[in-house]
Amino acid sequence: MIKFTVTSTKGGVGKTTLTANLGALLADMGLRVLLIDADVQPSLSKYFPLATAKPLAGLTEVIVRGEVTNQCITPTLYRNLDIVVSDDPEGNLPHWLLNRIDRGFRLRFALQSAAVVGAYDCVLIDTQGAIGPLQDAAVLAADILVSPITPEILSAREFKDGTMELLDRLEPGSALGATLGPMKAVIYRQDRTADARTIASGIRDDFIKLKGRVSVLETVVPHAKAYKEAATLRIPVHRHERKREGVTPSASTVMHQLAWELIPSLLGVYAEPFQAQEKTA
Ligand SMILES: Nc1ncnc2c1ncn2[C@@H]1O[C@H](COP(=O)(O)OP(=O)(O)O)[C@@H](O)[C@H]1O
Ligand SMILES: [Mg+2]
Repeated sequence: MIKFTVTSTKGGVGKTTLTANLGALLADMGLRVLLIDADVQPSLSKYFPLATAKPLAGLTEVIVRGEVTNQCITPTLYRNLDIVVSDDPEGNLPHWLLNRIDRGFRLRFALQSAAVVGAYDCVLIDTQGAIGPLQDAAVLAADILVSPITPEILSAREFKDGTMELLDRLEPGSALGATLGPMKAVIYRQDRTADARTIASGIRDDFIKLKGRVSVLETVVPHAKAYKEAATLRIPVHRHERKREGVTPSASTVMHQLAWELIPSLLGVYAEPFQAQEKTA
């Protein structure tokens, strides 16, 4: 089982879109995928249609019990794709966590529950773009951190500062004393202007210098309307845009490249949407 946490210190960069679409693609590739919505604003929980109208339980129970039980898991309408929904609209969980000495590890340990370990090949955790105990717990639960970064000078700078602060804070030897997974930055929402490309290459150079703590993936996710359209239709973007004319690669191509780069053993494996029998509610 491999665990990814999609993180960034900033909101609106594409974390939820990336988590949902990567999860759905991996599910269509045949992996059993569990999404976890660790944002108090439940965007990931609403992204795909769920198989039940009202989930029995969600993230609150996972964190408070320190365990993932079957009732914390809600199937989506897509095959192989389940979710632990965010059910903390008042934002009580971060406060609750703050008072726990094991706050950094609570989610990490919960993911060792039998309901997860035997049942899923991949866990993908979406987070809120801010600093807090829930984000820390999500970061510390991951094998690999994935961080979308927009190629604009200000966001790139902010990304660098925010990420360095996060890594310094959570690194081994720090107060929480954890093993932190490697961070993979994804250049995200790149547009076709020369400026964006210059900044993107600047970001790569910059990060090479950062002691190897962050690597920048080869895959670049372009700015494209397919991502928004797919979100509106509540379908995975690789199904929504399989082919595309012109220089910008299709969403399906981009998402496959991203999946292969993150999980190299999947290289050459394609989504099989035609075989995917959707579950009925
Ligand atoms: N590749 C993309 N191209 C264009 N728009 C995108 C892309 N990915 C996401 N978006 C849009 O950007 C907005 C913010 O994305 P979201 O995933 O909610 O960010 P975050 O979770 O980091 O706050 C959404 O309206 C989404 O539809
Ligand atoms: Mg989000």
